[in-house]
Amino acid sequence: MRGNVLLLSCAIFVLAGPASGAGDPVKGAKLHSNCMGCHGTELYVPPRAKVKTLAALRKETQNWNDRMNPKFVKQEIEDIVAYLNVSFYKF
Ligand code: HEC
Repeated sequence: MRGNVLLLSCAIFVLAGPASGAGDPVKGAKLHSNCMGCHGTELYVPPRAKVKTLAALRKETQNWNDRMNPKFVKQEIEDIVAYLNVSFYKF
C-alpha cells in the first residue's frame, strides 16, 4: 500500500515537472554570465534591441553560441533564451 502511494507521488512529480525542452530561466541566468565578455544587457532593451520575436531571439542566441568555447548544448541555449525573454524581451 505504502509503495503505491510513493509511486503515485512520483508520477505526479514527473507530470508537474517542467516539460523537457522548455528553458529554465534560473539556469539560463547563470549560463548567460559567460556571454558578457563582449556586451552587457543594454543590448536587450530599447532603444538598442533589434530582436523582435522569440524565434529571432533563439536564432541570435544560437549564432552567438558559435563564438563560445566551450559551446552551450541545445538545452542550455533554451535556458538562456528563457532567461533573456523573461528578464528583457518579454515576448
Ligand atoms: C564575440 C563577442 C560576443 C559574444 C561572445 C556574444 N555576443 Fe551577443 N552580440 C555581440 C554583438 C557585437 C552584437 C550586435 C550588437 C549590435 O547589433 O548592435 C550582439 C548581439 C546580441 C543579441 C541581439 C540583441 C538585440 O536585440 O539586438 C543577443 C540576444 C545576444 N547578442 C546574445 C548573446 C548571447 C546569449 C551570448 C552568449 C551565448 C552572446 N550574445 C555572446 C557580441 C557578442
